[in-house]
Amino acid sequence: MTNRPLVAGNWKMNGTSASAAELEAMGTGYDSALADNVELLICPPALLIAQLGSQDKIAIGAQNCHAKESGAHTGDISAEMIRDAGGKYVIVGHSERREDHGETDADVCEKAEAAYRAGLIAIVCVGEVESERRAGTTLEVVTKQVSASVPAGATAENTVIAYEPVWAIGTGLTPTPADVAEVHASIRATLIKRFGGDVGSKMRILYGGSVKPANAKELLAVKNVNGALVGGASLKAADFLGIAEAYRG
Ligand code: PGA
Repeated sequence: MTNRPLVAGNWKMNGTSASAAELEAMGTGYDSALADNVELLICPPALLIAQLGSQDKIAIGAQNCHAKESGAHTGDISAEMIRDAGGKYVIVGHSERREDHGETDADVCEKAEAAYRAGLIAIVCVGEVESERRAGTTLEVVTKQVSASVPAGATAENTVIAYEPVWAIGTGLTPTPADVAEVHASIRATLIKRFGGDVGSKMRILYGGSVKPANAKELLAVKNVNGALVGGASLKAADFLGIAEAYRG
């Protein structure tokens, strides 16, 4: 079965048990016609995964995991724990993790492997910073990140790529559709070269960075864009559904 496009919300460090009401509102607006065309996912803070996973309309995932299954790693959670709590996906290598916690491509690759081990789908994030965009090295940077962060065992079923230009995250700035098309085509070519046409052409590639209801239709219509990774606009049901609506027939 071909993967549906995916609109994924990353709540980052936002949300409490009261956020269940927001998720419920999202589920109410996500009717079966929309569900035929797009899969919805919310990645809340880990403490809410079990609670929010008690509904089955919207998939729930985590924002990070440790590479190991268990052990002396204070404050960390494993992919197995996420799965046990009802999570289906885990984001790995988000630029805020790479920046705030010094995560390298090798770390991200290990975390994605941990996701496979636990039966989770890994959303592997890549993207250039502003100075790299200005220097014209975007494609080079992103190719290197994809090559080093995506494990050899990646398939179209266990892996999603998220292209998120760091300068577009939380800033209200977005690349032009032509720029998005260029990077996504390059990622697609990298995946096909490494994994073959069968896997590489089916693996979903999300765009992330200041996706809003107002720009979703244009960005999501770009070739090789198979969904979105949404931060700020995933916190409110109206905004998140407004983005998903870009997929209504
Ligand atoms: P944003 O965040 O939508 O708030 O720009 C995107 C992300 O960090 O995934």
